Amino acid sequence: MNYERRGAAAIRGSFTVPGDKSISHRALLFSSLAKGKSEIRGLSTGGDVKSTMNCLGQLGVKIDRAGEIVKVFGEGKLSYSQPASILDAGNSGTTMRLLTGVLAGQKFESAVTGDETLRRRPMQRIVEPLLDMGAKIVASDNMTAPLKIFPAPKLRGIRYEMPLPSAQVKSSLILAGMFAEGETTVVEPVESRDHTERMLKLRKIKTPSGIETTISSDFMVEPAEYDVAGDISSAAFFLAAGAILPNSSVTARGITLNPTRTGFLDVLVMMGAKVKIENIHEAAGEPIGDVTVSHSELSGVEIGGGMIPRLIDELPLIGVMAAYANGETIVRDAHDLRRKESDRIVAVVDNLAAMGAEVQELDDGFIVVGSGCLKGAEIDSYKDHRIAMAFAVAGLAAEGATIIKNAEWAQISFPEFFETLDKLAVRN
Ligand code: S3P
Repeated sequence: MNYERRGAAAIRGSFTVPGDKSISHRALLFSSLAKGKSEIRGLSTGGDVKSTMNCLGQLGVKIDRAGEIVKVFGEGKLSYSQPASILDAGNSGTTMRLLTGVLAGQKFESAVTGDETLRRRPMQRIVEPLLDMGAKIVASDNMTAPLKIFPAPKLRGIRYEMPLPSAQVKSSLILAGMFAEGETTVVEPVESRDHTERMLKLRKIKTPSGIETTISSDFMVEPAEYDVAGDISSAAFFLAAGAILPNSSVTARGITLNPTRTGFLDVLVMMGAKVKIENIHEAAGEPIGDVTVSHSELSGVEIGGGMIPRLIDELPLIGVMAAYANGETIVRDAHDLRRKESDRIVAVVDNLAAMGAEVQELDDGFIVVGSGCLKGAEIDSYKDHRIAMAFAVAGLAAEGATIIKNAEWAQISFPEFFETLDKLAVRN
């Protein structure tokens, strides 16, 4: 599907977004490993979370989706049954990496694959430490999926110093650690999103070498009630539009304010947008609240180092905002952006250039020289949900029409994106 739209005069109103994708995957997985019924309210409606649900279904986990509440009838850590066919994680890196951690501890053979994009993404980052734990995993060429997982006689706990901050790798090892003899400790150089630790109530400690989390083999997951906060990474698109478009003000209701996820709000403030946070409360161990962003003149910023994991998924959108800001925006230390659902450095640079922006590709990021305006253009979504949505926002403030090719990929995290955009946009 191609999405075609001329710019909007402004964006106004309040909105909600689907449940947080990262929290949703984990709520499903942990419920499936608990003994008893868990209830999840506000589960993400996106395709990635459907992939996790489908894989769990193939593993014999009973899941009922009755309206707003998803019920998961877990039967314990070793209750999965051998799937009749290969598990399909679709486009979802989180599904593949987290699930592989669990499958490494099961007593049956299984295999996980994904779509064309996911089959190109690096799996070495989980396979190597899982092999160190004694797992029996065979990857395909260049350490990619499909992954074949054979029952291991025994997993053993390890201490793993992660070369890169990654919540997916950290969570995969924590999950495998639940099946391993002894303690498994993961050490991140910089803290990434901590939904797994919060949900399992694991203690994180800061040490000279990084942030450590330990799990031991006797760990049992309890059934729980999860209230999934709105996804800040989905809300970010409209918050960015509110900052860019004159006379705009938008409010995202009930989104996660977990500090490992709010780097984008810090960038909005650094760029000079007006940001108001209200109604802060807690739901299922996660801070949540309403965020209002109103337009004001934006300035370029420098982003890198420890900030990156706190806004990794919002970087394409920050590239778009940078084009509407005064001065230069520099994004560095984001090499891993090349390993996401697309090479997001190339996708941002090429699409911004197509819209007339002055932009330079760096090995680990990009530089955008803001001019305050973009021209409508034909945009390649690279079959990447976040690129499709970020450039729909770029098109809102651009001169002329913007066409997003393969815009339907937005459904991976936010099927209601275009509908919400139409509701909030004030037409010219
Ligand atoms: C996620 C972690 C991040 C993020 C992804 C979701 C998660 O990836 O980009 O969209 O749910 O754990 P990495 O952990 O690979 O950085």
